[in-house]
Amino acid sequence: MTNDVVIFAGTSNAELATRVAHDLGVKLGACQIELFPDGEISVRLDEPVRGREVFVLQSTGPPVNEHLVELLAFADCCRRSSAERITAVVPYLGYARADKRNGRRVPIMASMVADLMQVVGISHVVTVDVHTPQLEGFFRIPFDGLSSVPTLVDAVRVFLPEGAVVVSADAGRVSMATEFAHRLNTSVVVLHKQRESGSRTRVTNLIGDVRGRSCLIIDDMISTGGTVAETIDALLGAGARPEITVAATHGLLLEGAREQVGHKSVRNVFVTDTLPVTNNGWPQLHVVSIAPLIGEAIRQLMADGSLSELC
Ligand code: R5P
Repeated sequence: MTNDVVIFAGTSNAELATRVAHDLGVKLGACQIELFPDGEISVRLDEPVRGREVFVLQSTGPPVNEHLVELLAFADCCRRSSAERITAVVPYLGYARADKRNGRRVPIMASMVADLMQVVGISHVVTVDVHTPQLEGFFRIPFDGLSSVPTLVDAVRVFLPEGAVVVSADAGRVSMATEFAHRLNTSVVVLHKQRESGSRTRVTNLIGDVRGRSCLIIDDMISTGGTVAETIDALLGAGARPEITVAATHGLLLEGAREQVGHKSVRNVFVTDTLPVTNNGWPQLHVVSIAPLIGEAIRQLMADGSLSELC
């Protein structure tokens, strides 16, 4: 890597940042990040960025607001220090689910986040399996959504029972499920669900046949685990074999998620490391690193190359 490029990492996912730096064979940029007793965040760059291309690696997962402000603060200090270009590499983009007004007198948080990121000087956003691809429309700067599907498929393949069908946990995940099925040479089943609250969904329809089949449930994230639990019930109710694999890009795995997902029919659960995840005492949980994907994206951008092969 030339001197014209520097990669900083926020505090959201130190392990992933270290793996990406290792993959690229570079040292992360020197900086200091502090949290004041009143909760305010302070960021200081300990190396010059004037005229340099800067990458800031930061997932905006829990605590979402803290990690988001940290990312904004990084971009602000890079812009004020005359960085040439600021690319935010945000493997997990918080608030992406809040992409429309669900009712009256409510904000569109994803749109607000997009505005904030641009106002502070971010010139390019790279993320992974964003909740809805049309989110790109909130940004007036280049926005690339990398796909974790090839990485997850490689990890899942050897664990998957013969003849397993891919299950899209909801209508929004059909194209991701189709990509999984294509790579695994199998078919897709789609569930239609309704969200009843922030943590409760209800499956209303199952499109396809799962009788006697093992299933691979795929989703963009496991948050409370409610969606996966509902999906498992619906599949078993429709006659699926009690031999279920789950694969999701973002392992938020909030409190209680393990109990929700840990049904006795679940053989293996795969998530990537877009967020920090530990599988302490949960042997079915596999954490697959997307560091090579992020590293390759940064490599391409440094060479003004295209990311289309990675999206
Ligand atoms: C919903 O539209 C998403 O794609 C996920 O299915 C959902 O956000 C997962 O959340 P939870 O694990 O809380 O059901």
